[in-house]
Amino acid sequence: MASISFFLQSQVLFKNPHLASLTSSSPGRHFSPLPPTNTLFFQKKSGSLVIFSSAHVEGPTKRAPDGAKGLVDELRFATMNLHTWDQAKHGKMPPRGPPVAEWETSTEGCLKFLVDSKLVYDALERIVEKAAFPEYMELRNTGLERSERLAKDLEWLKQQGHEIPKPTFCGVGFAEYLEDISERDLPAFICHYYNIYFGQTAGGRMVISKKIAEACDGKELEFYKWDGNLSQILQNVRDKINKIAEGWSKEEKDRCLNETEKPLKFGRDIIGLIKL
Ligand code: HEM
Repeated sequence: MASISFFLQSQVLFKNPHLASLTSSSPGRHFSPLPPTNTLFFQKKSGSLVIFSSAHVEGPTKRAPDGAKGLVDELRFATMNLHTWDQAKHGKMPPRGPPVAEWETSTEGCLKFLVDSKLVYDALERIVEKAAFPEYMELRNTGLERSERLAKDLEWLKQQGHEIPKPTFCGVGFAEYLEDISERDLPAFICHYYNIYFGQTAGGRMVISKKIAEACDGKELEFYKWDGNLSQILQNVRDKINKIAEGWSKEEKDRCLNETEKPLKFGRDIIGLIKL
């Protein structure tokens, strides 16, 4: 397990005035401040460094035992290994603090969570529409899309008199990372795609939706509703992902599975916004 120091973070902010300006406290800034977490980085094709996400690097991604039926089985195994055992029954990591169900939340935090989530889903939906790799076309209009629903929820919350916050660094960083990785690494992007959409239908729906509803005037949000039979939709998407990965080399598959920590870290940071 490793973490990257504040010193390095400052160095990168210094080298990247755009990001430094995201964290500045100037009155005209467009983003909420950087959350108090440790930081990891990625280097874009353009050569510039971008900061993302928090605290821990877990070590090599564990592989599913023989018998996994396709890439999605393996992705699920990798991701469940990185859940904590209080989050999910198949989780393998020790808890890092109180479980989400015990968190005290704020309406302001939940609004931030919804705004940042919208940035992430907007990015995913733009990416598959643009289709830098032809495989992304398979992932259009699956029934899992969340952007329009989040727009409706935010509009409803605005009508109730809530002020809709600016995006935070968590959502901006994740969306930017997705745009970048999607153009240069199909297997890595597929890992994010799976984790974000499937995670939303699992822990998102079972655990986090309840905390959000509590803080958002008791409303059951559109974000947690799907048209039609969700199990069937998920099965269709599993089949599409497995088919995309059918001809992958071992190296490509490894690249996909080894990406698993990143959606979890980014996602946890965004979920963390709901805390009081
Ligand atoms: C921090 C709070 C989180 C909680 C409480 C949570 C909880 C859960 C639970 C209860 C499950 C179902 C386990 C099962 O079926 O046995 C699950 C599955 C899953 N979670 Fe999370 N999770 C959290 C965060 C995340 C994040 C940040 C991501 C990724 C962005 C994620 C991705 C997934 C995925 C991909 C699955 C498996 C879905 C499937 O293929 O069925 N989770 N999680």
